[in-house]
Amino acid sequence: MNDLKRRNFLKLSGLTVLPTLLPGIAAKAFASESPNLQPAANETVSFNDDGPFYQPAEYINKLQEINAAQPIKMDFYGGGGAVAQLCEQFAGLTGKPASIYMPSGTMANQLAISVLSGENTKIFVQETSHIYRDEGDSAQSVFNKRLIPVAQGEAHFTLEQLQQAVNYHNQGEVFKSGIGTIAIENPVRRCDGKFVPLEEIRKISAWCRQKGYKLHLDGARIFLAMAFNGVSLKEYSSYFDTVYISLYKYLGAAGGAVLCGDKETISHMEHLIKIHGGTTFSSWGNAAMALHNLNGLEDRLKRSADKSKELFAGLNKLPGVKITAIPNGSNIFNMELTGVDARLFSKTLADKYQVMLRAQKGTTQIRVNETLLRQDNQRIISAFDDALKVAKV
Ligand SMILES: Cc1ncc(COP(=O)(O)O)c(C=O)c1O
Repeated sequence: MNDLKRRNFLKLSGLTVLPTLLPGIAAKAFASESPNLQPAANETVSFNDDGPFYQPAEYINKLQEINAAQPIKMDFYGGGGAVAQLCEQFAGLTGKPASIYMPSGTMANQLAISVLSGENTKIFVQETSHIYRDEGDSAQSVFNKRLIPVAQGEAHFTLEQLQQAVNYHNQGEVFKSGIGTIAIENPVRRCDGKFVPLEEIRKISAWCRQKGYKLHLDGARIFLAMAFNGVSLKEYSSYFDTVYISLYKYLGAAGGAVLCGDKETISHMEHLIKIHGGTTFSSWGNAAMALHNLNGLEDRLKRSADKSKELFAGLNKLPGVKITAIPNGSNIFNMELTGVDARLFSKTLADKYQVMLRAQKGTTQIRVNETLLRQDNQRIISAFDDALKVAKV
């Protein structure tokens, strides 16, 4: 099911029953992008998402809590207030001189690669990337850029693969249209959250700088890579000209993104957001929520990653469940159930223990996120133990 059809399908369906009805690939696609649809009370641990996901009533309460601690300041058209505070924080964290709020990650990616490329039309991307597969061909249809996919089906391309692709296009053309930007997504959503090896990023960055090619990081989920491999946001950002980070994957906002870069590149953005219809009157709600969750995020995710190691070692001692790491993976793990009714297993975990996990027959992808910190490991292990017994077939 493609994204659009899937989203329409979600709208038309009863959302809360959907996860258990979707089989195989469709369920995997659903799980990879859609938030946990169960209420996330304070004790709820979810293995379905990349971060905390608030139901509307919780969202409102959370904003009230944030506002009570310190009154939220309004922005006007993305200027001032909570939005300015958020952008300032991201500029500090990435070490970039400028940053701007964007209504979506898609817009952040597209405007970044378009502005960085200038008159040059060719943009090299991972074949598996969101820019190539999930942005409606906007680079081609709106921005007059040509996306060139590299390393089909793989999480990342190596410097050698990139050089081959660049040389092939350079040498084969009589009328050259220019190489603009190289975009790298990290970690890679379509490849089970695998991260791009730092060594490869370093090599690619050094080569691009030598050649004068620009580099953009689609870091929608960059904090998840950081939690599992210990590389700082500043270090990642130092290899790129622009960096985009999502405000809703693990920062709890209802939507939005921040794009960081040098002053010249970012100075073009306000006008471009407007002419592409992305300027919103105020975005303080998203900004305040993201600011709140950004505080201490790196530490919480690191602790969640560490805690998951001990948890999965404990769970793997139980009969009927096996959890394995994905090579070069970040927060996504594979879980196999044997001799267990997956649906009943999930239901027992949710109803009795506030543990949300959309188990499927065969392999289920489970996600480590900061909700793991809400219950201690022994309690989660006991919950699994009981649910496995209840659902035994
Ligand atoms: C890797 C990646 N980049 C970009 C985006 C786009 O973000 P948005 O939904 O804010 O347009 C997504 C969203 O799923 C994503 O997973």
